[in-house]
Parts: sequence; C-alpha cells; structure tokens
Amino acid sequence: MLYFVATLAVFLIILFLLILFTWKNGVSPTPTTEKMRRALLEHLPEIKEGVVVELGSGWGNLLFPLSKKYAHCKVIGYENSPIPYLFSSLINHTPNIKIYRHDFFEKSLREANLIVCFLFPSGMKRLKEKLERELCSGTYVVSHTYEIPGWEPKETIEVGTSMIYLYEAV
Ligand SMILES: C[S@@+](CC[C@H](N)C(=O)[O-])C[C@H]1O[C@@H](n2cnc3c(N)ncnc32)[C@H](O)[C@@H]1O
Repeated sequence: MLYFVATLAVFLIILFLLILFTWKNGVSPTPTTEKMRRALLEHLPEIKEGVVVELGSGWGNLLFPLSKKYAHCKVIGYENSPIPYLFSSLINHTPNIKIYRHDFFEKSLREANLIVCFLFPSGMKRLKEKLERELCSGTYVVSHTYEIPGWEPKETIEVGTSMIYLYEAV
C-alpha cells in the first residue's frame, strides 16, 4: 500500500511539473519527430568548431544527434522544464554536451555559431528581438516548424507538412 501511494505521489508530482512548465513556457516538451530529425541533420550547416546552442532542448531528442554531428563543437542545451531537463541530464554521458536548467531568454547567445530551435509562434517573436540584439554576423539559426517573423531565410526545406527555416545573421 505504501509503495502504491509513493508511486502515485511521484507520478502526480511529475505530471504537475510537466503541466506547470508547459503553461509557464507556452509550449510542451514535444520531441522533434524522427523524420524531422533526419532532415535537419542532413541540412544543418557544416561547422568545424565553435558553439552550438539548442534553445529548449527538451528530452534531448535533437541535442544528442547534434553532439554527434558537431563532435568538435561545444553543444549547449537550455531547458527550464525540470522533468525533461532531469531526464536528459541523467542520460547524458557525452563529453561535448552541457545541459543547463535555465530560461534561454536570460542567457547570452553572443558566443553561439549555430542556434537550433523548435519552439512556438509567440516565442519566435520574442526570440527575434533577442537574436537581433545579440548575434554576431554569420551566426546560423535553424528553426523547424515555426519561422522567425520578418527574417528572410537563406533556405527552406519542406518536411512533410512542416518546414525547416535556415537563417544566417547579417
Ligand atoms: C517543442 S519542445 C522541443 C524539444 C526539443 N528541442 C526537441 O526538438 O525535441 C520546446 C521545448 O522548449 C522548452 N522551453 C520553452 N521555453 C523555454 C525557455 N524560455 N527556456 C528554456 N526552455 C524553454 C520547453 O520546455 C520544451 O521542452
């Protein structure tokens, strides 16, 4: 009985935290699909060294493949939802990945050479202002499903009913 109550309590706490942060962020930790992941990895720009940042790295579905593609880069994931953050941190044994439990809007992106994200429409609007303030010329930004309002993509790739938007900061 005690075991049942403890399991139920843990389950309810996890559920509560997932719902709370989905409400707070305006987006759930929905992972990128396998099809989109493959298309992204095929079309992402080639970078030999530097810093790759994933904004809202969720459960790590994109972050881990990114760390393999960019094996000589530092790969940073920012995720503020505690359960996906904990999960991805626990399974992370990859030396070039660092996962931080931070709100990425509060972290500087000046160092980044490539930014990858899968967010939501109003988040993209807010992100645009941050990117315009902080990014150096030549920094790549790759977003899938949602575009950066007002930015002209260098390339777009159709993936089923979704799109990949590839930008380069000027
Ligand atoms: C649609 S999910 C994508 C997850 C992962 N990037 C993927 O593609 O599999 C968006 C993620 O962004 C996180 N997120 C949203 N706003 C955030 C913020 N301001 N700071 C950190 N993480 C945020 C959410 O918690 C969620 O896990």
